[in-house]
Amino acid sequence: ARMEYLDYEVLADHGWEVDDEDLFEAAAAADLGPESYGRLLVEREETLLEAAERAGFAWPFACRGGACANCAVLLREGEVEMAQSHVLPNGMVEEGIRLSCLCRPRSDTLQVVYNVKHLPGLDELRL
Ligand code: FES
Repeated sequence: ARMEYLDYEVLADHGWEVDDEDLFEAAAAADLGPESYGRLLVEREETLLEAAERAGFAWPFACRGGACANCAVLLREGEVEMAQSHVLPNGMVEEGIRLSCLCRPRSDTLQVVYNVKHLPGLDELRL
């Protein structure tokens, strides 16, 4: 899968919100470095976190096993398969929050805001 990614940390600097319709268009047009915005390839059997690391990026994580939520991402587009996790409340999953250490791509393209561990509600989950 081709994954387009954006670092949550740059949103505030630009006055962007995670649910802006044209967020990724704006990010593509802004002068962001490859660690903040870009595209990378995710193999079907690797996790989003592994793919980012293989590409040389240091995305946040701690447990790598679905227990801490440090690796949380917001999936804006595409499908992933996520192993069972008890740390994420169902409501968050419905809002598109996924754990990058547990999910593997199931669509050809993905659009992901990573580093969302500071989103309201996720902060309290981090152990
Ligand atoms: Fe802890 Fe993914 S690194 S849940």
